[in-house]
Amino acid sequence: MNKYFIYFSATGNGDFLAELLKEAGYQPVKVEMVKPIGKMSFFKIVHYGGEAMFKKKAEIKELLLDIKDEDKVIIGSPIWNDRLSTPINTLLDKFSFNKETTRFVLYPAGEKTKKSLKQIAKLGFTQIPVVISYPLKKQEEAKEIIKKMK
Ligand SMILES: Cc1cc2nc3c(=O)[nH]c(=O)nc-3n(C[C@H](O)[C@H](O)[C@H](O)COP(=O)(O)O)c2cc1C
Repeated sequence: MNKYFIYFSATGNGDFLAELLKEAGYQPVKVEMVKPIGKMSFFKIVHYGGEAMFKKKAEIKELLLDIKDEDKVIIGSPIWNDRLSTPINTLLDKFSFNKETTRFVLYPAGEKTKKSLKQIAKLGFTQIPVVISYPLKKQEEAKEIIKKMK
């Protein structure tokens, strides 16, 4: 049985969680956009937030995933416009994951995740997602939450 943290990160919060989860035995697998977002700006937040609202799928670099049904998988996504980020939409479209055991870790800047929780439930995933608000700014809180994840 292998443990994977498959995630996207544009500004480092997901990468920080990946480091913590690595200590807990989760192999990090980073989803990369073909056209990376680059430096964040107000325009980009509006643009990519709009794409997330329409559940668009960003083009992602090829991923070699060999996940077995018994593997433990955590999928990590920042929150974009209260929804999953568009590279994670692509991941969920291209690969199939065990709907009963796969867990989501969401990392918004605030606390709002209502629409993304609905989105995940609608996709059929049954585990309640873990929400870690702004991990890079609240590192101790993030560490405590991750510590409880096996
Ligand atoms: C396009 C875009 C839209 C965002 N929309 C939201 C939002 O609706 N709610 C929120 O709490 N944070 C929002 N954020 C902030 C990110 O979810 C947050 O900073 C996250 O921790 C970034 O993770 P990363 O550093 O791994 O990319 C948005 C960021 C981007 C780039």
